[in-house]
Amino acid sequence: MKKIEAIIREDKLNDVKDALYKVGIIGMNVVEVRGHGRDGGIELVGRTGTYRIDLLPKIQINIVLSDHNVQRTVDTICEAAHTGSTGDGIIFVYPVDDVVRIRTGERGQSALQYPNDIDVRKTKA
Ligand SMILES: Nc1ncnc2c1ncn2[C@@H]1O[C@H](COP(=O)(O)OP(=O)(O)OP(=O)(O)O)[C@@H](O)[C@H]1O
Ligand SMILES: [Mg+2]
Repeated sequence: MKKIEAIIREDKLNDVKDALYKVGIIGMNVVEVRGHGRDGGIELVGRTGTYRIDLLPKIQINIVLSDHNVQRTVDTICEAAHTGSTGDGIIFVYPVDDVVRIRTGERGQSALQYPNDIDVRKTKA
């Protein structure tokens, strides 16, 4: 199991979410974050000169999923979040030790199955 942490532009959230639902990624959570990549923020011109905003608002999408769905999901996010300008974002992939669904006690892969999810759609196709 893996965790995908995708940091994207705020105004790309709906496009990315729609694209993920389309391929059958159901479980996810979203956090508002602030940060910067290699440019260290942006310069803005004000009345008294230029100033720097070093931490820009971004959206972080977290998805825990099976290893075999990582590539397709990363590709989907990249396609939907891409503009070609600096600040498009970054994706981190981490290993996940375990998942526990509290209501049922399901663990691991079983806790990552959802009705009509990416795996169900693959078997139908
Ligand atoms: N090494 C990092 N660790 C943690 N968060 C990061 C890291 N690099 C970038 N981020 C987060 O990702 C966001 C998006 O960064 P950004 O798209 O500017 O990346 P970049 O590497 O500067 O690429 P680009 O050249 O396209 O701007 C940042 O605002 C920050 O929240
Ligand atoms: Mg950048």
